[in-house]
Amino acid sequence: MADKKGSSGRGQRDLKVKVKTARGRRLSSTRWLERQLNDPYVKRARAEGYRGRAAFKILELDEKYHFLKPGGRVVDLGCAPGGWCQVAVARVNALGEKKGKPVGTVLGVDLQEVEPIAGAEVHQLDFMEEGADDKVKAWLGGKADVVMSDMAAASSGHKQTDHLRIIALCEAAAELAFDVLEEGGTFVAKVLAGGAEGELQKLLKQRFAKVANVKPPASRADSSEKFVVATGFRAGGAAG
Ligand SMILES: C[S@@+](CC[C@H](N)C(=O)[O-])C[C@H]1O[C@@H](n2cnc3c(N)ncnc32)[C@H](O)[C@@H]1O
Repeated sequence: MADKKGSSGRGQRDLKVKVKTARGRRLSSTRWLERQLNDPYVKRARAEGYRGRAAFKILELDEKYHFLKPGGRVVDLGCAPGGWCQVAVARVNALGEKKGKPVGTVLGVDLQEVEPIAGAEVHQLDFMEEGADDKVKAWLGGKADVVMSDMAAASSGHKQTDHLRIIALCEAAAELAFDVLEEGGTFVAKVLAGGAEGELQKLLKQRFAKVANVKPPASRADSSEKFVVATGFRAGGAAG
């Protein structure tokens, strides 16, 4: 059992790491470092062998919506450094570790190079380049049960520009989902709250039975990021 004294508020405060602003380090970098060092999800990611705290976002979304099942075929767009892929590999049984359960597949793509991930097929690709979706479809070689996108362009520092960029990434991911998802499939994508996501919702509602906007606990409260989770894909076309 945990030591009550150690887990008291006083104990927690004592454990908090303070970072001094070093010469040459901007205050914003110091704040980022301090937040990283004190973030329980960063600590958990390290302890549990995930490549980043983002892994907990997809874990929490899957705890709620149960879209990653043994035997599932998953496409992960914007997968670097690989936390979501790691979660998907384990949950769809891509390594065949859950004996007697169906074995799934995980295909990840990212602009950046990704260290190999056991159980996942990973490609370096700009998903916004001409013909990118055809490449993904060829690698996939068939249907998918889940298309998920955590793609985010590097911040421009301008909120509205960042928002429009992420919506463009989401729309491109949704187009791929429309082409490859199996009947009943799931689409998950990161969006930033900011207005233009209404169109995306409209688009998704025409093809999915349910569309939810979710902010999982692992998503930082001070970030405008949230996730759209669309379940029950209608492969046949738009709903009446
Ligand atoms: C927040 S990170 C993803 C983290 C990942 N889900 C994980 O768990 O490790 C966003 C990623 O989107 C990628 N990205 C942004 N634009 C992209 C594009 N046009 N094509 C492919 N990847 C893109 C970035 O390179 C970055 O690695």
